[in-house]
Amino acid sequence: MNRYTVTSALPYANGPLHIGHIAGAYLPADIFVRYLRMKGADVAYICGSDEHGAAITLQAKKEGIHPKDIIDKYHELNKQTFQQFLISFDIYHRTSEAIHYETASDYFKTLYDKGVFEEKTTEQYYDEAYNQFLADRYIKGTCPKCNNENAYGDQCEKCGSTLSPLELINPVSTLSGKTPVLKTTTHWYLPLQNDTNWLKNYINEGTVNGKTHHQAKAWKKNVLGQCNSWLNDGLRARAITRDLDWGIPVPLPEAAGKVLYVWLDAPIGYISATKQWALDNGKNWKDYWQDENTKLYHFIGKDNIVFHTIIFPALLKYHGDYILPENVPANEFMNLEGDKMSTSRQWSVRLDEYLKKYPNKVDEMRYVLASNFPETKDSEFTWKNYQDTINNELVATFGNFVNRVLVLTNKYYDGVVPQIDESIQVNSGERLGDLQNYETIIQSISNKVNNYGALIEQFKFREALSQLIDIASYGNSFLQFNEPWKLVKTDAVKVESIMNIAIKITTVLAGICEPYLPATSQKMKALLNVDNLVFNFEDLESAIKEVVSVGHTINKASILFEKIEDDMINKELHNLKAASNQTGKEMITLKETIQYDDFAKLDFRIGTITAAEKVPKADKLLQLQVDMGFETRTIVSGIAQHFEPNDIIGQQVTVVVNLAPRKLRGVESQGMILMAEDENGLLVFQAPAATVANGSLVS
Ligand code: MF3
Ligand code: ZN
Repeated sequence: MNRYTVTSALPYANGPLHIGHIAGAYLPADIFVRYLRMKGADVAYICGSDEHGAAITLQAKKEGIHPKDIIDKYHELNKQTFQQFLISFDIYHRTSEAIHYETASDYFKTLYDKGVFEEKTTEQYYDEAYNQFLADRYIKGTCPKCNNENAYGDQCEKCGSTLSPLELINPVSTLSGKTPVLKTTTHWYLPLQNDTNWLKNYINEGTVNGKTHHQAKAWKKNVLGQCNSWLNDGLRARAITRDLDWGIPVPLPEAAGKVLYVWLDAPIGYISATKQWALDNGKNWKDYWQDENTKLYHFIGKDNIVFHTIIFPALLKYHGDYILPENVPANEFMNLEGDKMSTSRQWSVRLDEYLKKYPNKVDEMRYVLASNFPETKDSEFTWKNYQDTINNELVATFGNFVNRVLVLTNKYYDGVVPQIDESIQVNSGERLGDLQNYETIIQSISNKVNNYGALIEQFKFREALSQLIDIASYGNSFLQFNEPWKLVKTDAVKVESIMNIAIKITTVLAGICEPYLPATSQKMKALLNVDNLVFNFEDLESAIKEVVSVGHTINKASILFEKIEDDMINKELHNLKAASNQTGKEMITLKETIQYDDFAKLDFRIGTITAAEKVPKADKLLQLQVDMGFETRTIVSGIAQHFEPNDIIGQQVTVVVNLAPRKLRGVESQGMILMAEDENGLLVFQAPAATVANGSLVS
């Protein structure tokens, strides 16, 4: 049996997950894993919280709390969010567990004892106000490669380069904001300068020690591009320890106050999580990490590429007992409504919040994200696209087809699958008038299913999803072209075969949609009364023919997907814009832009109220006489709840004098006065700051 170890990047447990994280490293992996499991593979799908690293300690410092307060909260939240979103990890572990401390320290010790590391005393940046050395995110400055002014000490998130603090231009401590000083300290380094050659072969040729390890061309271009820019720059020794008090202590007596660099610690988290899972499930963890027949895949976002293609493989190779990644199918980033997604700027769709509001729209979001995966370049999520994609593809195509089949089968046959006449000639789902026999139709469905699987295996998840929807679309056309609802009156026997085929297509869909739409798959299996269906990808034609048998009874139809109304997406857009507005004020929706000519048509003039009385039986209206200088106008105004008639006599006002007259409660109003609303909702006259002659033009 094929064995796979699949990992998704351990998210830092310092914040909630948003849909960009999910589209990068989690949903693609989950689709891949669910597909592998469906094919009967032995898979360990590993993830967990990354609880160390400067991202967490810095945040704790900022909020004045202990790192533990942050990681406990977000570990639980993220674990639960993944679960609700049906990300099917075999274990969601955490790097604060004892088994991980042990695994990571042992790993360090093994390499140390082999003499792998270089021990170097160098000058490093130090913040004198905080008495702390500044590594990684503790130091910021300008990236020497792309001039991004907010590059961190270990990485520039803009151009993806890995950096060392000494390379930063204008370094600044992120603790005190001051320019740091240099001080000596001792650390252990991974001598990557010696690894360039084998890494070049491993990454570009797919060979290790002259033997084929994997198909090099199976690696994605965006991944190879980053690797090669790194390799061509020349690899340098990299410190794998830090002067910090948060992390796994360096297991050497002379290393008090030093911890393992998070990039040595976190990827080893994949291994310790596998150990825990193996303990819990009676497995041998070594099968998943040390058996050459096991394939190891790391799903990550683009900011993690070098760590998984260069640093971690080097660590694995230096150890000697471990397999190397078969592939690292990293994704680019997903933007939101035209801007970079960011939790801190509140420009994101938080998955926990989405799930709270729409607990029954898990598959809808999975579908929309998968159809927009940033597989080859950055992509974009918009709520409008969310609505259109769901309405056009899930509702109108997929859901509609399934519903028609269920309804017709119940209507014609009381839910019992009718017989198939294999010599039948019917319209295919491709073209009207393209008559085909049963065998040919099964073949073309089989080709589509085969293509679907092949695309998933190549990490072309977007294309695979189109192929899936194409099968539903084929089913819809198959019904449309054969019109069983008409034919049933003239050739009921033929309709039995048509419906038999349509039910088979539906059942195949129920099986194969599971990687993308696990909740829908389950629901469809229940509707079709095939709860235990496991679709067999091996002998596809037989699998399709035998997916459901004649005489089997299915259940009554029920809707799979609801149409997404404008209301929902308008609300989401509004919330997004309101939340991202730093002041926290409500978002202001401006009226549509007008041209100068539109504005120039308005005639504003100053007048003075000379008389005011309530309009009978109208709570809100006052009837005013306004002296405009050139004439007196009667104006009906909705201000009765704000002013006593007597109090406003003599008040100057701005009037729109060329507004077409309008009758309000039987009184003709010959203009409109301008009012502003204050923060309490009270109205204020818009009058000139100093008295001017009545009739004065405002422009
Ligand atoms: N926690 C890091 C991040 O979110 C990376 C984790 S990947 C791992 O960017 F390999 F370290 F686990
Ligand atoms: Zn840069």
